Amino acid sequence: MHSHLSLPLLLVSAVAVLAVPAPTAAPIPGLLAAPSPVPTTAPTAPTKSIKTRDFELSLDLPTISIEPFTLSSLELNLPSNTCTPTVSPDANGYVPPDQCNALYQYYPSFAAAVAFSVLFGVLMITHFAQATAYKAGFVWVILMGAVWECAGYVARAVSTKDQQNTTVLTITQLFILLSPILVNAFDYMVLARMINFFVPERQIGIFKPSLLAFVFVFLDIASFVIQLIGGGMATPSADAATMLKGIHIYMGGIGIQQFFIMLFLIIAIQFHRRMFQLAREGRLAGLKAQWRPLLYALYISLLFITIRIIFRLVEFSRGNDDSNPMTHNEWYMYVFDAVPMWCAIAVWNLVHPGAVIKGPDAVMPPSRLRKILCCACCKKRRNKEMQKIPEEDPSGGDEMLPLNRRTASPYR
Ligand SMILES: *[C@@H]1O[C@H](CO)[C@@H](O)[C@H](O)[C@H]1NC(C)=O
Repeated sequence: MHSHLSLPLLLVSAVAVLAVPAPTAAPIPGLLAAPSPVPTTAPTAPTKSIKTRDFELSLDLPTISIEPFTLSSLELNLPSNTCTPTVSPDANGYVPPDQCNALYQYYPSFAAAVAFSVLFGVLMITHFAQATAYKAGFVWVILMGAVWECAGYVARAVSTKDQQNTTVLTITQLFILLSPILVNAFDYMVLARMINFFVPERQIGIFKPSLLAFVFVFLDIASFVIQLIGGGMATPSADAATMLKGIHIYMGGIGIQQFFIMLFLIIAIQFHRRMFQLAREGRLAGLKAQWRPLLYALYISLLFITIRIIFRLVEFSRGNDDSNPMTHNEWYMYVFDAVPMWCAIAVWNLVHPGAVIKGPDAVMPPSRLRKILCCACCKKRRNKEMQKIPEEDPSGGDEMLPLNRRTASPYR
């Protein structure tokens, strides 16, 4: 930020130095035995004569007078860096929140950060073990969510010991603010897999599993991008205006995330009703009888994500002033963000989708994204194959014949 500010400032002062005439009107007494001051206005307009070959041309140069101006007329409303810390940081880099170089509004707890690093680390390891045991590759999304949460709190533990370091704090905040997106995406993917596995017609309304996963994961990514932009702008090193704008963008991002959760719930409830119907008809046998824990786990996970989103919306909408208890007490963040997110991930350890959704019915149709990506490579491959057909292909030229009259070709 400082480097951005200093360049225009430097330019402005350079221009000012060049533009300001030498202080001739009032020489500083006693400092300079200055030569007689050059008058800014010439007493009489000088007439200059230029001799050319044929005639004489005389020019009357107009008198030029430059109004003396001061540097203050060039001063822009740039925020001046008035940071003069009066308290030197302690061993952990802590300064009281009223100091201009304070990054924390409270004394952050090292123990709490370590505790949650361990808690999320346990979820991370458990998810890895379960994914391996159930051979459920699709849980990589929630595994990544747990990894990001764990990384966020490890970085926070480092940050509490180096509180003047904005880099570490920015990394911490980005991990903690963005990892719920991954947990949310996983919830969307699980319902898609449930529709594919439990519902005989493999669709709810217009939503086939692949379309549902594609649409909601795409919307989730869109809100992720908005949150990333906002979170990136609202770094602790940003100035107040940028920070405010970043916070507003981030709030817009989590707001639409919550809106998509609401839309998604409509589909989840449709699915729920269909499951009731199938249960009444006695069409859910074996593993498929275990649909309830999975669906309730989905509701619980979304509920915890919602609690966390509402907390962040309230926290950020209250601003950063002294009357906002949420930014001035550390426990709010742990109780309303860390704990709910831990629960939103842990519920999928307790009820693991890989334990129920397995077997031939669990195979997902190729996703739309994969189709799109594959189309590109398929075309390339097809083009290559077409180029490979040699000239002397014995079947060449019989494309118009009915199949049974064509020559056998290795290329068909
Ligand atoms: C912040 O911490 C990181 C990692 O400990 C270090 O590499 C970096 O130099 C630090 N930055 C400042 C400005 O102290």
